Amino acid sequence: MENIKSSQQSAVGSLTRLSVHVRSFKYPDGTQAMSDIDITVRKGEFIGILGSNGSGKTTLLKIMDGLMKNFDGEVFLDGNDIRKLSPREIYKKIGLVFQNPDDQLFAPTLFEDVAFGPINMGFDTGDVERKVLSALNEVELTGLEKKSVHNLSFGQRKRACIAGLLAMGHEILLLDEPTAGLDPMGEYKMMNLLTKLNKGNGVTIVMATHSVDLVPLFLDRLYILSRGRVARGGIPEDVFTAPEEMSNVKLRLPQIAELIYKLKHEDNMPFERIPLTIGEARREIARLYA
Ligand SMILES: Nc1ncnc2c1ncn2[C@@H]1O[C@H](COP(=O)(O)OP(=O)(O)OP(=O)(O)O)[C@@H](O)[C@H]1O
Ligand SMILES: [Mg+2]
Repeated sequence: MENIKSSQQSAVGSLTRLSVHVRSFKYPDGTQAMSDIDITVRKGEFIGILGSNGSGKTTLLKIMDGLMKNFDGEVFLDGNDIRKLSPREIYKKIGLVFQNPDDQLFAPTLFEDVAFGPINMGFDTGDVERKVLSALNEVELTGLEKKSVHNLSFGQRKRACIAGLLAMGHEILLLDEPTAGLDPMGEYKMMNLLTKLNKGNGVTIVMATHSVDLVPLFLDRLYILSRGRVARGGIPEDVFTAPEEMSNVKLRLPQIAELIYKLKHEDNMPFERIPLTIGEARREIARLYA
C-alpha cells in the first residue's frame, strides 16, 4: 500500500474550527470519562482519535458534537461556545456518524433514510433524489434504495450511515469507528472515500478508531486517548515510536513498524528510522540493499 496521505497532501488551512478543552467529564454513575483534554481541529484536517476500548473516543466525539454538555471546560465551534448554539446551528456544520449503525438508521427503506437529512434541510424532491442517489453511489449501495434498512448487512448499514451524512454535505464530519466491522476491501474503500472528501472536497474530518494500521496511511495528525486523557498527539511519525509505549496505552505499532523495529533492535539491522507503511518500509529496505 502506498502512502496516500503524502501523495495527496494539500494545503491545510490554519483556521481553527473546533477547539476542545475539557478539564473533567463524569457520567452520572460517577465514571470519570474525560480529564484534561486539549484538542484543536483546524479547517481541512483529517484527524484521528486513536484509543483502545473504553478509552473515551465516543464520549469525546459526543462532546465535540454538542450532545454531551455537562462537562467542566469549554468547547468552541468556529469561536462560539458550543453549549450556547442551538442543535440546528451545530448540525448545519457538523455531522456525527455513530459507532453503531442501528443507533442512526431508522427509516423503513434505505432511500428514505438517506433522504431524511436533505428533506429536513428544505431541498425540493428533485434535489433530494439527486443527493441521495449520488451519496449511495459514493458508498457503493446503488440498487438497494428500496431495501429495508434492517435487511442490509452490517457493513452495508455502516456505509448507509455515511451516505446519510454525505447527502447533507457537512463541512465537518465526526466519524466513530467508520471502518469497524468492514471487510479488508471495504475498510480500504471507506478510507479512500474519506480521503477523497477531505482532500478533494475540503471536508474537515475527525475519526475515532483503534485500527493502528490504517492511521499512518491516511491521517494528518492523531491523538491517542487512554483512560479519558490524551496520552500523546502529533503526526503519526512522532506518535508511533516504540512497542512498549503503545502497549502502555493498550495499542500496538502498525504491523510493518513492529517488524522493522524488531529487525533493528533485536537483529541489529541498520534501519535509520521505523517506517510506518509498507511503501516506506519498501523504500527503506531497498536503500539498505542498494
Ligand atoms: N452512558 C454511560 N454511562 C456511564 N459510563 C459510560 C457511559 N458511556 C460510556 N461510559 C464509560 O466511559 C468510558 C469511555 O467510554 P467510551 O464509550 O467513550 O469509550 P470508547 O473509546 O468509545 O470505547 P470503544 O472502543 O469500546 O467504543 C468507559 O469507561 C465507559 O465505561
Ligand atoms: Mg466508542
